[in-house]
Amino acid sequence: MDRWQTIIEPFRIHAVEPIRMTTAAERERSLEAAGWNLFNLHADDVLIDLLTDSGTGAMSRDQWAAVQHGDESYAGSPSWYAFLDAVRNLFPFPHVIPTHQGRAAEKILFSVVGGRGRIVPNNTHFDTTRANVEWSGAEAVDLVIPEGHEPATIHPFKGNMDVAALEALLAERAADVPVVFVTITNNSGGGQPVSLENLRQVRAVCDRYAKPLFLDGCRFAENAWFIKTREQGQADRPIVDIVREIGSLANGMTMSAKKDGLANIGGWLAMDDDALAAQCRNLLILTEGFLTYGGLAGRDLEAIAQGLREVVSEDYLRYRIRSTAYLGDALDDAGVPLVKPIGGHAVYLDARALLPHIAPLEYPGQSLAVELYRAGGIRGCEIGTVMFGRHPDGTESPAAMDLVRLAIPRRTYTQSHIDYVIEVVRDVAARGPDLRGYRIVDEPPALRHFTATFAPIGAHAR
Ligand SMILES: Cc1ncc(COP(=O)(O)O)c(C=O)c1O
Repeated sequence: MDRWQTIIEPFRIHAVEPIRMTTAAERERSLEAAGWNLFNLHADDVLIDLLTDSGTGAMSRDQWAAVQHGDESYAGSPSWYAFLDAVRNLFPFPHVIPTHQGRAAEKILFSVVGGRGRIVPNNTHFDTTRANVEWSGAEAVDLVIPEGHEPATIHPFKGNMDVAALEALLAERAADVPVVFVTITNNSGGGQPVSLENLRQVRAVCDRYAKPLFLDGCRFAENAWFIKTREQGQADRPIVDIVREIGSLANGMTMSAKKDGLANIGGWLAMDDDALAAQCRNLLILTEGFLTYGGLAGRDLEAIAQGLREVVSEDYLRYRIRSTAYLGDALDDAGVPLVKPIGGHAVYLDARALLPHIAPLEYPGQSLAVELYRAGGIRGCEIGTVMFGRHPDGTESPAAMDLVRLAIPRRTYTQSHIDYVIEVVRDVAARGPDLRGYRIVDEPPALRHFTATFAPIGAHAR
């Protein structure tokens, strides 16, 4: 790099999407109509949408051009081969099974390897991963290092697996563990990376117990950038080399191409085990589609193939990680409690620390997320007791943390959008003591955060 400090967006804007401005009164009405669940909002009523970085990014000129190459042949489409080549350029797995998104890959895998009496360790299961493990009847356990539960503790690889805890679990229950998972980066734990060293140690434990290691690889490129910039001896390695080494340590992966595939839809399941792959392919045909398209159109496969070539660009990753840190650093300087260090794809506000007067079972994360929308039309996502507090046996307990995730869609918002977000969050944080909790009015049996409805505590029933 040259001497300039400002890291600019490494692109110019080629097509614009209007944002509809809303008034505070409109937003109040929208909240009530949505049952205070931000997933129920009409997206036109959202000014800055930080609900998720999943499938919400802007595709490049070259991806849109690739879409025109989409070949919609039912079987053996050239677009499938373009996709396969792009995946294989990064990951070594002989079996690649295309799916319409990450959770479809999870559903297929856990339908085969899960089931009652089984237990699946992970650094931290993402919500859909946990739900798919539990849906199969198996138990999902999170074994992230202790620092991963401490929002304010600085650690370069806070997503690391607690290797001793994994070893202890396997020593006791190896026969019940069909697969060990590591999520890179650790989304539910704050978008925190996992080091190569940790992956090597996890690999060694898996080898001792003859267990396959799978990656939840959604943000593999962001994780590789953290390895390059934070792990000793990695600074001079090309990102592609680091990604390949990550892949070489695993036996398979689930992937949502809506993240580091830089696409709006897509995913895959990959593995080295022939027999397992055969079982998974049978389920693929049952639920997703033929082996060479999964749940995807040929044009989607092309967009992902091009996205996988772009996502390993160092200019892109430098901008990506720096622009997320720009938001986090500004809020940290303003004294807003958050998960540190700042993760790759999102800034996680620590609602439990900001709103100590709201008990976890009155959902401080929900309260903060709702207020960010009410005040400034910003949509974030509660990652806490609403998302993780209800258990398969029907009981409810506080999640490990009550966070609000502000996820940054890839290549979508400019620095002035983010400056606006900083202004709104600072204002809401200053009014923290006035915020109140919520109760759940209605909830489904699983993944309740998507569809539950809420009411503010202390409000009159209608
Ligand atoms: C770590 C992780 N795993 C799995 C998934 C599921 O992927 P999808 O939304 O494509 O089903 C996500 C999505 O947000 C994720 O972040």
